[in-house]
Amino acid sequence: MNLLQYWRERTVYGRLAGKGILGMNCRNIRYISRYNPRTLYPLVDDKLKTKTLALEHGVNVPDLIGVIDNQHDVRKIAKMTDGIPGFCIKPAKGSGGKGILVIDRVVDGVYYKTNGQPISLQDIQRHISNILAGLFSLGGKTDFALVESLIKVDDAFRQFTHEGVPDLRVIVFRGFPVMSMMRLSCASSKGKANLHQGAVGVGISMDTGGAVRAVQSGRPVTHHPDTKQPLSELVVPQWIGMLELACACYDMTGLGYLGVDLVLDKNRGPLLLELNARPGLSIQVANNAGLLPRLRRIESIKKPEKFPIVERVAYSRTHFAAQSDL
Ligand SMILES: Nc1ncnc2c1ncn2[C@@H]1O[C@H](COP(=O)(O)OP(=O)(O)O)[C@@H](O)[C@H]1O
Ligand SMILES: [Mg+2]
Repeated sequence: MNLLQYWRERTVYGRLAGKGILGMNCRNIRYISRYNPRTLYPLVDDKLKTKTLALEHGVNVPDLIGVIDNQHDVRKIAKMTDGIPGFCIKPAKGSGGKGILVIDRVVDGVYYKTNGQPISLQDIQRHISNILAGLFSLGGKTDFALVESLIKVDDAFRQFTHEGVPDLRVIVFRGFPVMSMMRLSCASSKGKANLHQGAVGVGISMDTGGAVRAVQSGRPVTHHPDTKQPLSELVVPQWIGMLELACACYDMTGLGYLGVDLVLDKNRGPLLLELNARPGLSIQVANNAGLLPRLRRIESIKKPEKFPIVERVAYSRTHFAAQSDL
């Protein structure tokens, strides 16, 4: 984070004072180290492991086309994706949208990125080589590349995104969904729905799935910067199904403080994109609300594991509703 970003975040969090904002130290000490056993981290720090676990638990994920784990196999990408109209190549241990290459369509042997620019097979292969070398992974460790089928944006989100797939982040605490935000890709985020790449974060009310507030780079916004669509009109379809899927990720990992990233595929419905054992705090800025009061409420529930998913979702929808500022 550069000095300007740091200053902006400080100012933004300052404005949230008194709303029970969860800070970095408190998150790390009181929640992450207490509720997330370290031994479980590998399940979420490797996207292939997460995908395998999800499939074992009946949690839907984008289809895996293949894995490339050594330099010799880099040239197999053309054959692996032969006849597939669109796909996504990503580092298994990447984060923050780094190293993600989305091929939107392939026409007469020419590959096109989401922004319509063509990319040569050699460049795609070079990109995969860079992934294997660890260019995008945590600590520069060697990595491998996942090739996934392309997620198709649900029609409800068409006007709320630019050249990319929006995703939904849900914070799930002890199996209860506590706060959520949509991340909308825009021109400045280059088709990726990652806030640090410049995507718009939209706070979502837990009861209805409707937008409550939106920010881009820490500043409030009311319309999508590229499509100009009013963000007040954003409502997440299949809201209850999305929350239920998020809760199922607690049951399948055992991680008590979890960031669940979901997408809504036009044909397949809610899908799990990735999990995060150290989810960021800016979801509070997008919601203009602090996490602490919600976390404390869930902490006061005795034996939360005895509640089935539907009851957990109903509880959160009742207690964590929010009014729209948009
Ligand atoms: N299979 C896919 N099809 C289309 N877009 C994708 C796909 N996978 C990821 N993306 C885009 O890239 C973004 C980041 O992907 P993600 O798997 O969450 O990786 P990271 O850990 O880097 O955030 C997503 O929010 C989405 O916008
Ligand atoms: Mg992500």
